Amino acid sequence: PQPGWAETTDVVVVGSGVAGLTAALHLREAGLHVTVVTKVNIDDGSTRWAQGGIAAVLDPYDTPAAHARDTLVAGVGLGDPTAVDVLVNEGPTRVRELMRWGAEFDRNPDGSLMLTREGGHHANRIVHAGGDATGAEVQRALHAAVRRDPWIRLVEHALVLDLLRDGAGRACGVTLHVLGEGTEEGVGAILARAVVLATGGMGQVYAVTTNPVVSTGDGVALALRAGATVTDLEFVQFHPTALVTETDASQQPLVSEALRGEGAYLRDGDGKRFMIGQHDLAELAPRDVVAKAIHRVMLAEDSTNVWLDARHLGAEFLESRFPTIMTSCRAAGIEPTTGLIPVAPAAHYASGGARTDLHGRTSIPGLYACGEVACTGVHGANRLASNSLLEGLVFARRIATDIAGDLPAQRDPVFEDVRQWAVDSAVRRPLQQAMSRGAGVLRSQDSLADVAATLTQLGEQRARPNVASWEAANLVTVAAALVAAASGRRETRGCHWREDYPAAGEEWRGHLLARVTPAGAL
Ligand code: SIN
Repeated sequence: PQPGWAETTDVVVVGSGVAGLTAALHLREAGLHVTVVTKVNIDDGSTRWAQGGIAAVLDPYDTPAAHARDTLVAGVGLGDPTAVDVLVNEGPTRVRELMRWGAEFDRNPDGSLMLTREGGHHANRIVHAGGDATGAEVQRALHAAVRRDPWIRLVEHALVLDLLRDGAGRACGVTLHVLGEGTEEGVGAILARAVVLATGGMGQVYAVTTNPVVSTGDGVALALRAGATVTDLEFVQFHPTALVTETDASQQPLVSEALRGEGAYLRDGDGKRFMIGQHDLAELAPRDVVAKAIHRVMLAEDSTNVWLDARHLGAEFLESRFPTIMTSCRAAGIEPTTGLIPVAPAAHYASGGARTDLHGRTSIPGLYACGEVACTGVHGANRLASNSLLEGLVFARRIATDIAGDLPAQRDPVFEDVRQWAVDSAVRRPLQQAMSRGAGVLRSQDSLADVAATLTQLGEQRARPNVASWEAANLVTVAAALVAAASGRRETRGCHWREDYPAAGEEWRGHLLARVTPAGAL
């Protein structure tokens, strides 16, 4: 069947986190009509869960060159220096703009912005809000600004399916399924002169993740099916310190790196500070270094966690600076002022995605990607802490400028049949478990081959299309592409850790392309 309905806008933005909403606001400033489509509610994406903050050079003693250096070091040879220059030089202006849109960051008694530090940074350059609730404040401010503009149409409960293209192959809209409209009969289309993907990440391919339940890789799956260039999927960042709780929840509470930035220690089962001697920044080494060290301790001790010790920071400081973490810990029966916090690595951020240029353009004309769904090149093999909200802010503005400067007339799509295949949603948990077992922090050719075989089997369990089964199909698609990339990269670099190839190789200083067959089958 063909889409049951269609509506038209200038630009359709898919996703409503920092990247999507910032793009929408800039597109409006350029006088364009924008439709924002989001899978559940406007605030349900990853942005509101961000704790640590936004990295930007706002201290007169800090420099963009120093921020660039830290970003490129964290990226272990795969970061794109030109994209990084854009990020660090435009970042401060974008953060000030966000404040003009209403975001309020924490300040010192003299009114200056309070700046903190996280892993891999050699300067205090991270703005934060509500102590450790930065993402919530960013989302609140952007949400309010978008609601104030009657020319931004918001469509919630709409799962994006596939890209629409005109006869020349240019993106001219998307198909989507709006919840409550039945199954395939509920599929409609939004036709647009440009499409911005801002659908966030894919943490839900793993059993243990800090990402919310909506992070199922929908945008990357769409890009793969459309044949866009997708790179770096093997570089999944595992946050070193997610809270280990007794529950089997689909999202684990984050324990921000800023807690270590403010002086908390990591301890092994014997109480030893095991990061000392492993890196000159000890607990504040880049994230991949800390996650690997924790994993090694857990393997050696045959334990499910290590310990974070914040007791010496004092109750008053912990309450005021880290209210979100204190609440999560207490909900799990842990008292950080007197006891140790059990933590372990959890899937946190996809550094790879739809490859873009400096203007957020993907390899398909008219299709842009912004935020976690994109691979702009700034993160390389491992993202530096608090560079992700920043990347969304910086590249959203660049995308809006590019679209406004070169917007083609509305074109008719060549309608293909709405995709009928989907995967039984019951595969979701076994898929996550297989991925965590074989394609998690530590990988090998054998473990990856096992996961690939499991994914093939799971992908064969087809089901009638609906939101859950389309999401399951996306999870299978992105997981399989990730596993293929992880087995293709036969070296250890950044957050890609191969047990069978423990060293980095100069010949691997490049990017692996991820692909699926045109039919969407793997
Ligand atoms: C954190 O607060 O540790 C997370 C920040 C980030 O992922 O950049």
